Amino acid sequence: MSTVQIPIDENLSDGQWHERSVIIEDRHVSVMLRFSAGKWQGFQNVCPHQGRRMDYAPDRFLVTPKGTLVCPAHGAEFRPTDGFCINGPCRGASLKPVEVSEGEAGTLTLKAAWFSGSCA
Ligand code: FES
Repeated sequence: MSTVQIPIDENLSDGQWHERSVIIEDRHVSVMLRFSAGKWQGFQNVCPHQGRRMDYAPDRFLVTPKGTLVCPAHGAEFRPTDGFCINGPCRGASLKPVEVSEGEAGTLTLKAAWFSGSCA
């Protein structure tokens, strides 16, 4: 399983979803991250329906009042807790998870099996 470390900047832990592009095995990979209720969450920034990005503008995501994530392309709606699609054209599919853990010296370690061989 591949891992990468990124710095925790001042915006990243504000409770909102943020996009970060990381380089893994010489490839750029876009992930979406959030710190909420005392824990980090992360997913690949790619909708499972047609592979579009989940952010509608740089570092901006559509979130409903109840907190679900909405794909800007065709409106698929995802639970933020596990990335499961509860409504829309890819109902039953899921965002690819990223394991996020906070390390020492203000860094996050991102880990995912899909990092290897991904071209996102
Ligand atoms: S690409 Fe996300 S709903 Fe179609």
